[in-house]
Amino acid sequence: MTKYLIDTHAHIDMLADIDKAIQQATENNIKKIILPCAYPRDLEKIAEIANKYKNVYGLLGIHPSEAKDWDDKYTETIKTLAQNPKIIGIGEIGLDYYWDKSFNEIQQEVFIKQIQLANELNLPICIHDREAHKDTFNILKQYNKNSTVVMHCFSGSKEFAKECVKEGWYLAIGGVVTFKNAVKMKEVAIDMPLDKILLETDSPYLTPEPYRGKENTPAYVKYVAQKIAELRNLSFEEIAEITTKNAEKVFGI
Ligand code: NI
Repeated sequence: MTKYLIDTHAHIDMLADIDKAIQQATENNIKKIILPCAYPRDLEKIAEIANKYKNVYGLLGIHPSEAKDWDDKYTETIKTLAQNPKIIGIGEIGLDYYWDKSFNEIQQEVFIKQIQLANELNLPICIHDREAHKDTFNILKQYNKNSTVVMHCFSGSKEFAKECVKEGWYLAIGGVVTFKNAVKMKEVAIDMPLDKILLETDSPYLTPEPYRGKENTPAYVKYVAQKIAELRNLSFEEIAEITTKNAEKVFGI
């Protein structure tokens, strides 16, 4: 029985002490950590960190908030770096209408380009969708051909979760599920099929209870697993087993 966890989304490059965070994760039985990319300037750095640490895997992509900085030359950069077996997907890519709605169309264009790139490389995609559920869903449906889809930090309703699951997509659940007022998120965690759940921290953000307000770190993914187990009346080991299996399958790790 698998007894370890995987943090499928942690910006460990943004942590105060990356060595300490990885050590702490290992001590807490978090055996694999997936490091997404946000900024164009970080593409090489993500690959370097993935090379440096045995249990760290990288994703390459440009975050929707950075879409104005997209340059078509990044397609080649990503293709070259993705030859590295430690690069296991494209992300985080998607749409974010929360911070700034002034360049939604540019975000969509860059999103589509990166979906097509993932399809060409036959890699899974890690999706950032903030207050853009409808457009994210429609663009993925229209443009994605063969990449496995992971909805990172899923923030939709139970109904939207159902629609995503129907498409065969995975939903990654993070620290928000531990927040007292996160009613919608708890409903999703209870309702969705177990074979579509992934765990994540989104470190250094969204720290789960009981450490809410402090810097998040991959070790805390265990609190997310605990909360989901509690909500579903399952054991921690059962949640560990299924979510680890799902992550290994999606990312081929
Ligand atoms: Ni993120």
